[in-house]
Amino acid sequence: MPESATGRATDSAAFDDAERLSPDALRDLQRTRLRASLRHAYDHVPFYRAAFDRAGVRPEDCRTLGDLARFPFTVKDDLRTQYPFGMFAVPKEEVRRLHASSGTTGRPTVVGYTERDLAHWSDVVARSIRAAGGRPGHTIHIAYGYGLFTGGLGAHYGAERLGCTVVPASGGMTGRQVQIIQDFRPEIIMVTPSYMLTLLDEFERQGIDPRSTSLKVGIFGAEPWTEQMRREIEERFAIDAVDIYGLSEVMGPGVAQECVETKDGLHIWEDHFYPEVVDPVTGEVLPDGEHGELVFTSLTKEAMPVVRYRTRDLTRLLPGTARPAFRRMEKITGRCDDLIILRGVNLFPAQIEEIVLRTPGVAPHFQLRLTREGRMDRLTVRAEARPDAGPEARTAAVGLIARGVKEGIGVSVAVEIVDPETLERSVGKIKRIVDARPRDPA
Ligand code: DLL
Repeated sequence: MPESATGRATDSAAFDDAERLSPDALRDLQRTRLRASLRHAYDHVPFYRAAFDRAGVRPEDCRTLGDLARFPFTVKDDLRTQYPFGMFAVPKEEVRRLHASSGTTGRPTVVGYTERDLAHWSDVVARSIRAAGGRPGHTIHIAYGYGLFTGGLGAHYGAERLGCTVVPASGGMTGRQVQIIQDFRPEIIMVTPSYMLTLLDEFERQGIDPRSTSLKVGIFGAEPWTEQMRREIEERFAIDAVDIYGLSEVMGPGVAQECVETKDGLHIWEDHFYPEVVDPVTGEVLPDGEHGELVFTSLTKEAMPVVRYRTRDLTRLLPGTARPAFRRMEKITGRCDDLIILRGVNLFPAQIEEIVLRTPGVAPHFQLRLTREGRMDRLTVRAEARPDAGPEARTAAVGLIARGVKEGIGVSVAVEIVDPETLERSVGKIKRIVDARPRDPA
């Protein structure tokens, strides 16, 4: 075991041991952990006991990984009805930390962690940062929000676990963030991609070339972002941009991570989180390679095990590459909740992002506004002009975006090019859709 400068053993190997498992050894480990986790949920959470009983299944019925399909799903509303602590499987005294996700409506969802859960969470985030190119001794600027949101603290303890120097900047106070990046010279930044764009504006406002910073890698997540956005950020900052995925109900950031050497989707840390992809309508399990809704079952969580939790996120499972033992998930193309059905055509904000970002004269800031005219829904893509775009470039951009959407997605939308710096900037997760349609009578 390597010794650190202080003479203390750095057991960095421990958190990535599983990365060296053979596929067969991983399946064995998953089977064992899955059975134990289902048993733990059934024995200690009345909600799961009732749900399993209703479905006529017992934990011991799960003999193979495929048997998991016989178990009932869990959805966000189930967690809400158990607010605040009904889903906990350990006595309150064993819960070391609480987080909550606000969601867009209704009560928040509360999640809890035991000491061992927190250690596992740090391990998977440390593994994620290493996969992104982070190494002990690097300085990491964390601009995910600290607080009940899992982004800040989740990234923080993982970065410390890896042996990095952490700058816990949190979100907001953008001017100061730029100053700190200039002075502390981090190699890595962890932030939402939309807030990275806000930082980009601020670097330029302060007359600093964003390509001149000490940053080498950005680890971006908590919201969907496209390959076009990756290219934009990589070019404007001269960094590698990689994707990190997670959700509070399952853990927080660090459920899956893209490797910097391949940038080909996110390896799911399957020794802790067992993924399935199901048909979002029928719930039927789909074979690897097919698109559907991502579902997770926790394999090691103590405080709040989750069984077949439906994420609402749409993706597909692919074989491992840079980490052969683990399957990858394709970059998330959208959430069931963000699907806009416009005159019968399905569209996701990410599809619009691709079109906006490849349009000359337009900044990477856009908003989608839904209105209703008579019985027809109307979508307006509001995109911001780049400061150097004159009237002709703006007119051309309107045509290019409208045509891009019509030809690429198959539906007509209105396009409005607004002045630079008029659309609201993100300080965390961005909200792309503004729904100004009259509410349907209840
Ligand atoms: O957003 C955890 C997180 C923090 C992940 C920081 C990555 C970095 P929640 O607030 O519970 O947790 O939101 C989870 O955010 O179901 C996805 O819809 C979305 N999401 C998270 N990461 C990605 C990503 C955190 N890389 C919800 N790509 C998830 C697309 C993402 N969507």
